[in-house]
Amino acid sequence: MTSTTSLSTVDLTAGAPAHSPANSGEWWRDAVIYQVYPRSFADGDGDGTGDLPGVTAKLDHLAQLGVDAVWLSPFYRSPQKDAGYDVADYRDIDPLFGTLADFDEMLAGAHERGLKVIVDLVPNHSSDQHVWFQEALAAAPGSAERERYMFRDGRGPAGDEVPNNWQSIFGGPAWTRLAPREDDGPLGPQWYLHLFDSTQPDLNWDNPEVHAEFEGVLRFWLDRGVDGFRVDVAHGMIKAAGLPDWDGQVAMVEGTVEEASEASEADPSAPEDGSTGAGNRGPMFDQDGVHDIYRAWHKVLAEYDGDRCLVAEAWVEPLSRLARYVRPDEMHQAFNFSFLTAPWDAATMRTVVNASLSTMEAVGAPTTWVLSNHDVVRHASRFGLEEIGGRQLNGIGATDPQPDAALGLHRARAATLLMLGLPGSAYMYQGEELGLPDHTALPDDVRQDPSFFRTNGAEPGRDGCRVPLPWVGGAPGNGFGPTGKTWLPQPDVYAELAADRQYGVEGSTFEMYRAALGLRRAENVGAGTLAWVDSLAEHPDVVAFRVADVVVVANLGATPFALPAGAQVLVASGELDAASGELPSDTTVWLRG
Ligand code: GLC
Repeated sequence: MTSTTSLSTVDLTAGAPAHSPANSGEWWRDAVIYQVYPRSFADGDGDGTGDLPGVTAKLDHLAQLGVDAVWLSPFYRSPQKDAGYDVADYRDIDPLFGTLADFDEMLAGAHERGLKVIVDLVPNHSSDQHVWFQEALAAAPGSAERERYMFRDGRGPAGDEVPNNWQSIFGGPAWTRLAPREDDGPLGPQWYLHLFDSTQPDLNWDNPEVHAEFEGVLRFWLDRGVDGFRVDVAHGMIKAAGLPDWDGQVAMVEGTVEEASEASEADPSAPEDGSTGAGNRGPMFDQDGVHDIYRAWHKVLAEYDGDRCLVAEAWVEPLSRLARYVRPDEMHQAFNFSFLTAPWDAATMRTVVNASLSTMEAVGAPTTWVLSNHDVVRHASRFGLEEIGGRQLNGIGATDPQPDAALGLHRARAATLLMLGLPGSAYMYQGEELGLPDHTALPDDVRQDPSFFRTNGAEPGRDGCRVPLPWVGGAPGNGFGPTGKTWLPQPDVYAELAADRQYGVEGSTFEMYRAALGLRRAENVGAGTLAWVDSLAEHPDVVAFRVADVVVVANLGATPFALPAGAQVLVASGELDAASGELPSDTTVWLRG
């Protein structure tokens, strides 16, 4: 299904601007934000796990790359049962990652280079090693200590059946029963709710003490100088009253194409009474009560100077429900999982882009774009899985069909150039600037993700995208740290993709990112408005739009596509055939418009 368009018929004139974001100068509205996953970014002390001194040592890499901000996944005190998303102390650094002084040094180093810093806040659950949970275990049922979490009696005459039928997102029941104790009532030991691992008990957000505690945590990090927070599971804190049974099963990351097309018609300002646009993620997610929390946090951030921001990790649908998290008095941005989950298909891309822009614009929030993060298969591997259109997200195991690495990288570069040409804010995941694939053949005995264990291996889990970065090709551990140790093994291909093999090398993925980020900034693309190229608006394989003075043309089809004669190429994701003037298959180009 590819049509050929001849040189003479291509007209890159754009239509009227389809979207004009309100740009009030807040830095996060058009920022490119780089996700550092601290355990896998760079190892300063040689123990095989990345750390904050490692981040500080590599800040020049980020400054050279040309991003605006860094978001760091959790580095707080934690038993690391879910790689730090199980926090035991929200106000301290885990010794694995360093000290508060190391954090301050990293923050100062980033600020010196003009990089903003966003930290991760995990409010839905704590670690079972958090002092509050330990106190709750020691206290009696019904005590104030237990009220900080979601303890319930079991069902059945002896209380030995789960309080409801909810499933953990990592597999298995969402409830764990306590050990018996003498003061248990007739229903025996209580159960506690954990939407994730059993070591991650859900906090009780109906308890004002929990609100006060987290406002204190926000202030702790704001006082230290952070520029914002990425809010983990932002749609999860409030559960439907009575915790009703629900037969659905939630997955790690969701977002559908249907959601995007539906959303273009939905009304983001719909009333909160559920009369229209109700969320459909079950009684544990997207309850209207969460919005009161964000309104309160918005006020806390507003007390501080500068533009501090809150970014929602909320897996809600349709997009109109997501837009409610970024209304003017709530959070500032929300991850766009509809874009991340979109398959390699031009019509779908256009639909998702349109729906994303219009839905966020309706509430005055910037649209965000993201292709990879620490929870999904990297886009260089996803797009190499031809037969499922790049939609495989929850890990690829050694015995699964393996991606086509060359195709994956080729498409990933094209997808990235398409993304960076869009107005709004874009998120990158560490290593994508090197074109890294997942380690898709990790042996099971090195896996650490709780979702692998809780599904008895049915889900490979997320370790494949969390492999330590290669900095020096061919060095021990490819230069991840001074000893060559890496907490997960790297695949062979990481040697040739190492950062030092790409710096200054024309055509390398790093240099492509650098060029695109430089142009994006110089041309003010992030703050621009998108207008579709009229003559290509219905093309089955081509996505073409203008933002500022840049025209982005992506060919997602199998057949070369003729570009206008004499077009000035600013940056391309792959080699162009100068003689024919054609844009090859799976390639994106930025042209001077
Ligand atoms: C978020 C994080 C993920 C973590 C989960 C539980 O989805 O991105 O890594 O496992 O929350 O905190």
